[in-house]
Amino acid sequence: MSEICLKGRDYIETQDFSAAEIDHLLATAADLKAAFHRGEHKLVLPNQTVYLLFFDNSTRTRNAFEAGATQLGAHAHFLDSRATQIAHGETAYDTGRILGSMGHGIAIRHDLILEEGNKYMREVARGTDVPVINMQCDVDHPTQTLADLMTIREHFGNNVRGKKIAVSWAYAPSYAKPLSVPQGLITLMTRMGLDVTLAHPPGYRLVDRTLEAAKKNAAEAGGSFEIVDNMDAAFEDADIVYPKSWGIYDLMLEKRDAKSSAQIDKIEQECLKKNAEHKDWICDARRMKLAKKDAIYMHCLPADRGSEVTDEVIDGPQSVVFQEAENRLHTAKAIMACTMRERPFK
Ligand code: CP
Repeated sequence: MSEICLKGRDYIETQDFSAAEIDHLLATAADLKAAFHRGEHKLVLPNQTVYLLFFDNSTRTRNAFEAGATQLGAHAHFLDSRATQIAHGETAYDTGRILGSMGHGIAIRHDLILEEGNKYMREVARGTDVPVINMQCDVDHPTQTLADLMTIREHFGNNVRGKKIAVSWAYAPSYAKPLSVPQGLITLMTRMGLDVTLAHPPGYRLVDRTLEAAKKNAAEAGGSFEIVDNMDAAFEDADIVYPKSWGIYDLMLEKRDAKSSAQIDKIEQECLKKNAEHKDWICDARRMKLAKKDAIYMHCLPADRGSEVTDEVIDGPQSVVFQEAENRLHTAKAIMACTMRERPFK
């Protein structure tokens, strides 16, 4: 029986949790997954309420938390920030204090504006004692990366030290995607002792503090962290490839300071125009051959098919994206069960 108790803890960045605590969350997720597939109910959060506050769209995350809450005996209450008094300027602290006084957990997605989402969540957390769960911010997407690590362990076993993961930028024409998935990956995977290669074209750098954390984590865990500007080089001999698009850091900062929606649209268009200069950054069959024979292809989804990845790869035998997406459910449940439950789960 594990001594670890996460009751009341905020889950805002994986960096806030020890490796043993991450292991505990993943062991809980594995138990919940096995129970789910046996058709067993684990009603460990009866009559509890978790608020799901969204400042952005979602398919996987929202449904993992909504379905997950129901499966644990709780109620998930969906809140579109635009339909709340947040849109009229109510503060993060007051919002946290009020929702926390009525329920048992607050999960938030606030990912589109650099230097805002993470601060917002920590300010909500200052207003309440109930756990605040990060469903994606500008810094991290820790419910995604927990599911990613679960998927990697299911594939390679629990000891993933020394496995090479290529976290690469890829071309997408749809929108300037947040930086938080690659940032979350380089911080968590270095902590688990993987060899992490980050690849992106010039200009697509990540936030400094996550780069510094990745370097430090790698040194402490005995793995490695390197940055290259070549997708092929990153894929060379990789065990795991995780190519996805993200926005241009400097333009994302300009977007944060934009004064009108017309200005925001202009910046977005500029970003997409620059993305189009790198259409060759696609995960295709040729690139998959650069990785190890048994390498797996991962993506948090939604993927821009035909731009970030070819159908042949994402629908092919090396792709684990649907297993990865299902694991969002089991890890979301583990986070809620461990942080919201009266006694440790297990
Ligand atoms: N991967 C992910 O977070 O998906 P959604 O944006 O659909 O929640």
